[in-house]
Amino acid sequence: MSIHKPRGTNDILPDQVAAWHNLEKTVQAVAGEYGYREIRTPIFEHTELFARGVGEHTDIVEKEMYTFLDRGSSSLTLRPEGTAPIVRAFVENGLYNQVLPCKVYYLGPMFRYDRPQAGRYRQFHQFGVEALGSADPLLDAEMIKMADEVCRRLGITQREMHINSLGCRGCRPAYIQKLRQHLQGRLAALCDNCRARFDRNPLRVLDCKNEACRRETADSPAPVDSLCADCAAHFAAVLNGLQALELQYVVDMRLVRGLDYYTLTAFEIMVSEIGAQSSIGGGGRYDRLVEECGGPATPGVGFAFGLERLLLAREQQAAVNAEPSGLEVFIAALAAADRIPALQLAAQLREQGISVELDFLGRSLKAQMKFAGKIGARLVVIIGGEEATRDAVVVRDMRAAKQQELQRSELAGFLVETLEQ
Ligand code: HAM
Repeated sequence: MSIHKPRGTNDILPDQVAAWHNLEKTVQAVAGEYGYREIRTPIFEHTELFARGVGEHTDIVEKEMYTFLDRGSSSLTLRPEGTAPIVRAFVENGLYNQVLPCKVYYLGPMFRYDRPQAGRYRQFHQFGVEALGSADPLLDAEMIKMADEVCRRLGITQREMHINSLGCRGCRPAYIQKLRQHLQGRLAALCDNCRARFDRNPLRVLDCKNEACRRETADSPAPVDSLCADCAAHFAAVLNGLQALELQYVVDMRLVRGLDYYTLTAFEIMVSEIGAQSSIGGGGRYDRLVEECGGPATPGVGFAFGLERLLLAREQQAAVNAEPSGLEVFIAALAAADRIPALQLAAQLREQGISVELDFLGRSLKAQMKFAGKIGARLVVIIGGEEATRDAVVVRDMRAAKQQELQRSELAGFLVETLEQ
């Protein structure tokens, strides 16, 4: 019996890796332009970090974590998201004593025991950014602009920026009470999930995807209408910043996010093409999280994109050119006796930074030429035969479909020069 990969995981095969590299390079370039530096944290953390940070009553903590006891009986969890680990690292390494705001980005796998479907996996990858140490609403606006710029750079043109404000600890309880009162009389018409959420996390009733629930909750009070004066001013300043940056947005009262740490600004980037999973990235402000993780009171704001969803959206929307193979030279050996010189020549050329491939399947010259074409070699060096007696080789330019004889001593210089053109 053959063994399959675990449900909800993906192999990223060599043919697909070029698209990943290209995506990673693009998001890293944008992060660099906005002043973010990379941070790398462990793939697993103490379970308590997520229980405390993400929130005990969230779907992630209740149903989706990969939690296990290690051999020393510590409860560990494969990270389901990146924000809580970054905050932990910020506190643990005393980064609050350094230059603020602390602006970091990360790229890497995350794990959630979700029901797999297109764009939803159990191991997926995120590109995320976090800025810790500033409560300035213009930082929120800049962050949203950066998320938008990532999409623009990738050619994801059909996108919508949804934004909301969830208020602060001061004004949210009154809003939740108002929402509960509104929903109370309609509970019978809501789905089981929403009824369970009504008690524990009523905000999440607003983002239920069920059509009947959406109809019932369409006239619910909006969070932005219940903000205290400070939160309302913050939200107005964020929107003002976005207008100054000429960024189009939709204020969306249903955008409540699935993690408990958010305060004030919340945002998501939506696309319609990738099936049920229309949000390709999201984030917001989390002004209490550093303190909850044992650090000094420090505001924070950030977002994360799912890389698989960015790739899906890009595939749907942008014409992505096939990446060249990157292989520069193929060395064809005419006869068995030419294989050792071919091996030596390949090693010499690689020392000079040229990428070289050889035949290891005993192919004929004709088959080797065909193979060189198939793997996209730019130049082919044919070694052996009569030319070898003159210490020469034949070089074929596969693009120009021309070949010429060269002395071995001229070969490296010629290859380097041709490859630079
Ligand atoms: P999130 O909305 O849970 O936020 O995840 C961010 C993105 O990760 C989603 O928009 C989606 O693209 C991707 N994603 C989430 N779950 C899956 C899945 N099962 N399969 C594929 N992709 C998925 C966070 O994780 C926050 N930490 C974002 C943040 C950073 N907020 C502040 N800073």
